[in-house]
Amino acid sequence: MANQLQIIDENAMAELGGQLAKVVVPGTIIYLEGDLGAGKTTLVRGFLRSLGHIGAVKSPTFTVVEPYSLDHNKFCYYNELEDVVKLNSDDQSLNSSNVDLNVDSNSSEQKIYHFDLYRLEDPEELEFMGIRDYLDGQAIAFIEWPEKGYGVLPKADFIIKITHQKQGRKVELLPYSEYGTVMVSKLTSNRLD
Ligand SMILES: Nc1ncnc2c1ncn2[C@@H]1O[C@H](COP(=O)(O)OP(=O)(O)OP(=O)(O)O)[C@@H](O)[C@H]1O
Ligand SMILES: [Mg+2]
Repeated sequence: MANQLQIIDENAMAELGGQLAKVVVPGTIIYLEGDLGAGKTTLVRGFLRSLGHIGAVKSPTFTVVEPYSLDHNKFCYYNELEDVVKLNSDDQSLNSSNVDLNVDSNSSEQKIYHFDLYRLEDPEELEFMGIRDYLDGQAIAFIEWPEKGYGVLPKADFIIKITHQKQGRKVELLPYSEYGTVMVSKLTSNRLD
């Protein structure tokens, strides 16, 4: 199955994050599922580093969310996928707020939020922290332990499910929106090049 990958070690996991960075467009919401130590944060670290982030990328287990600002121009597949982005902005069910995805397209900053909901006791806490302001249709979000936010979190464009193997990890890429399907198929076909 093309959407299932074998990722042999930490470096390969970070590399997968880098490949993800080439296909993810603004507004994308990604759930990261997998046990403690599965490699979720390693993937996000690879994503951020490949886009020029220098410095630590830690699991925001206690802070719930860690924000990053990266150069919007580094998102080189944005134009190529613009039709898909526009289609996404018409689909109001995909985003909690009705924000035009192209509104900020001249801004030089791309916001990325890394959530870790492990310590959340109630999904309502996400309302109190103003999750809707974070996920404004333009920001990219990676969400570890999304099951803890069930009912309040907006739906994912795709889910990355990581499972421990004897050696390395199995990574499944599961699209949940039309937009997610395009990104997942781009990612898997890029890997074949
Ligand atoms: N594909 C892989 N194969 C083997 N080890 C890996 C792989 N990916 C990551 N690791 C290792 O697994 C460990 C845990 O990684 P990481 O912190 O990314 O997990 P996590 O899923 O974010 O966990 P948590 O739920 O606790 O936040 C790290 O030591 C990392 O080096
Ligand atoms: Mg983590």
